[in-house]
Amino acid sequence: MTSRAIRQGFLDFFASKDHRIVPSAPVVPHGDPTLLFTNAGMNQFKDVFLGTGAREYKRAADTQKCIRVSGKHNDLEEVGYDTYHHTFFEMLGNWSFGDYYKEEAIAWSWELLTQVWKLDPARLHATVYRTDDEAFTIWEKYLPTERIHRFGEKDNFWEMGETGPCGPCSEIHYDRTPDLSGGPLVNAGVPEVIEIWNNVFIQYNRKPDGTLEPLRDKHVDTGMGFERICAVIQGKDSNYDTDVFMPIINAIEHISGKTYSPELTNTDGVAMRVMADHIRTVSFSIADGALPGNEGRGYVLRRILRRASRYARNLGLHSAVLYRLVQILADTMGDIFPDSVSQQALVEKVIKAEEEAFLQTLERGLERFAEAAERSTNDTISGADAFQLYDTFGFPLDLTQLLARERSFNVDEAGFQSLMQEQKERSRSARKSTIQQVELPAIEVTSEFVGYDILTTESKILYFKDNQVILETTPFYAEMGGQVSDIGTLTFGGSVYQVTDVRKVGNTFVHICETEVEPLVGEIARAEVHKRRRQDIVANHSATHLLHEALRRVLGTHVQQSGSLVHPDHLRFDFPHFQKVSHQELQAIEDIVNDKIQEFHAVVTHDLPITEARKIPGVKSFFGDKYGDRVRVVVIDDKFSAEFCGGTHVRNTSEIGYFKIIGESSIAAGTRRIEGITGSGLRKYLAHLEVELQKSAVHAESLNDKIKLLEKELAKTQLASLGGKIESIIAKAQTINTIRVAVDIVEVSDADQLNSLGDELRNKLGSSGIGLLGTILGDKIQLVCVVTDDIKSSHPAGKLVGLAAKEVGGGGGGRPHLATAGGKDLAKLPELITNFPRIVASYSV
Ligand code: ALA
Repeated sequence: MTSRAIRQGFLDFFASKDHRIVPSAPVVPHGDPTLLFTNAGMNQFKDVFLGTGAREYKRAADTQKCIRVSGKHNDLEEVGYDTYHHTFFEMLGNWSFGDYYKEEAIAWSWELLTQVWKLDPARLHATVYRTDDEAFTIWEKYLPTERIHRFGEKDNFWEMGETGPCGPCSEIHYDRTPDLSGGPLVNAGVPEVIEIWNNVFIQYNRKPDGTLEPLRDKHVDTGMGFERICAVIQGKDSNYDTDVFMPIINAIEHISGKTYSPELTNTDGVAMRVMADHIRTVSFSIADGALPGNEGRGYVLRRILRRASRYARNLGLHSAVLYRLVQILADTMGDIFPDSVSQQALVEKVIKAEEEAFLQTLERGLERFAEAAERSTNDTISGADAFQLYDTFGFPLDLTQLLARERSFNVDEAGFQSLMQEQKERSRSARKSTIQQVELPAIEVTSEFVGYDILTTESKILYFKDNQVILETTPFYAEMGGQVSDIGTLTFGGSVYQVTDVRKVGNTFVHICETEVEPLVGEIARAEVHKRRRQDIVANHSATHLLHEALRRVLGTHVQQSGSLVHPDHLRFDFPHFQKVSHQELQAIEDIVNDKIQEFHAVVTHDLPITEARKIPGVKSFFGDKYGDRVRVVVIDDKFSAEFCGGTHVRNTSEIGYFKIIGESSIAAGTRRIEGITGSGLRKYLAHLEVELQKSAVHAESLNDKIKLLEKELAKTQLASLGGKIESIIAKAQTINTIRVAVDIVEVSDADQLNSLGDELRNKLGSSGIGLLGTILGDKIQLVCVVTDDIKSSHPAGKLVGLAAKEVGGGGGGRPHLATAGGKDLAKLPELITNFPRIVASYSV
């Protein structure tokens, strides 16, 4: 039987038992911060189990895309070395929401396995929770007692995570030993006897304080490993030998020119299994909206991709190859997971870019390894070096160990592990802080959001605890789809409480107040959203839709939102694109958005059945996102932009005011981020620019002052050097009738300097002295004449300079001790200098 037929057989079987067949939720969960990846079929029904949400059906079945890369369920480093662990797998599941229970769940799993699929009943074993006599008794109808095993919490009490729905479970194991001797091997972690199906009887909610709270209803949650059941039905020892993986492995054989060996110890076989497994994880997560990056989910994705890439290198493949396997997934799984076809081109591009980037790092990492080996002591690579190779160069420990072995070196594994541990602690505490510590009420409550239209309501208090309040109706938007939550006030019992955060949990909106509240349930509270802030948020949200469309028009339709933040002060938009967005492109994008703003377009929202909404031409929905039967569509300017969106918006684009892009950057290989502002954000930005401008004006002024100061300094040094010159001028002075006449041509930078020099000459002459200094400034002669005080009445400088100026075709005058003049006949200056003593001699009052 083909894997496709097995999958369909499962769905058909449960459809015949009145189950609604639902699509897989995205493998990247949107809206559950406690989950990195969807890790079980029941994730999408968490709210139903907890009683905070409902569906219109009581029974459901599907095949769910799951990723398990860490935690109790899986260990990434082991994948590829065995036959049945995967990072990505399909989980076939059937559910009862407060409907059938243990009896039917067990009966149907038996029927499907033994009657439809005709598995040998002698090979089946069941496990039950150690105190679950009810399940034990039911199993006795199908199995001999010795093949029903009781186990404790570790194996037979299933929990979604640290908190959430949980309960005792009953697993079905398949014995592959030739002589049916597998009984003692159940839960021993060996490939001979493997778990194929888990039936969980959900009855509790694990609370953050660790206690179990009984749920109102009892539910069934089952999960069957699709790849494993395929191996069992197809009679293969290894999941990789089934038609789920062989097409991928064949492609790898083709690309590498090597032959696959299922031998677990064959290194080429390990490499091919790692690649075949990891390409599924990476492709499906990217198709569902995740991108490789440096934090959280993106980082996990990057590590998996790198692990696959370096195994590809072990096969002698030194250039990007993984992206070439994406086609196989589209071909083999496109019918059941349509996004693997619709997102194929994007997935290939992202993987290729990431592979190429890593292959460069890999070379550097290998160099780094050589250095580490060089400085190691006792032929042991230190834990710190191994950790750096892991952390910075993406080298898994086993790669470092492999490289070390080749040189007969060791690796300080304990040192590495302790650094790993530290990092895990760090990321755990980082993750904890983002997890919603909101406690759900034990009662089923539903609150209605009325904040699309009004920002103030009066409403009944349904629930409160500490600083958390749930109202029957609320105008407060809870953080969702990138739009931040509202803030504002709740008023009741004569007190006003500041609401600092609002979270949507199940079908309720939990208002988180700054202080503990003391209301009574049933009391009426006045809820008021901070209006100005909300206006800024809606402007940024509508601008984000315009930006999204403008980006597609300018850069191309590969632009899809991969992340978005709508904040009152700014907006941020991440999207796949493989080069920097040029200045001209940014300008064009900004222009389109601003045209739409200034053209005064209506922003209209429609609440439509999803089938109708999908027919709107060019409508944007987020691939991989899960939508209900009805969706809200936000339409701007009729045909310009239509987007599935639950957020709040302006009524008319003109309310946005103006849009400005203030940043464009790369956040990961192939992912760009645009930051923009509108309205009030722009006001703040302009105010900030003005301050900056003033700062630079002040800066310029102080620069000017500095220049002036420097000029003065320079003048002083020049003078100082000219000072020496004065001594020599005086030394060669001629004495005319007891008067010393000192003359010379000097080089100065301006008239002021000439005058200062004249002053200096006068001082140095002391008494009975007359000086004349000439210089050429530009195309003019400049003269200064100085006379010591004792003779200034008999030989006034003003007169003398006048006579001197005449010789050079000019004129001038001034006071008796210092006078200046100009002249035009540049050539005559030397002559004047020679003649001046004679002018003095012949001068008489
Ligand atoms: N939720 C159960 C599991 O993941 C079925 O095993």
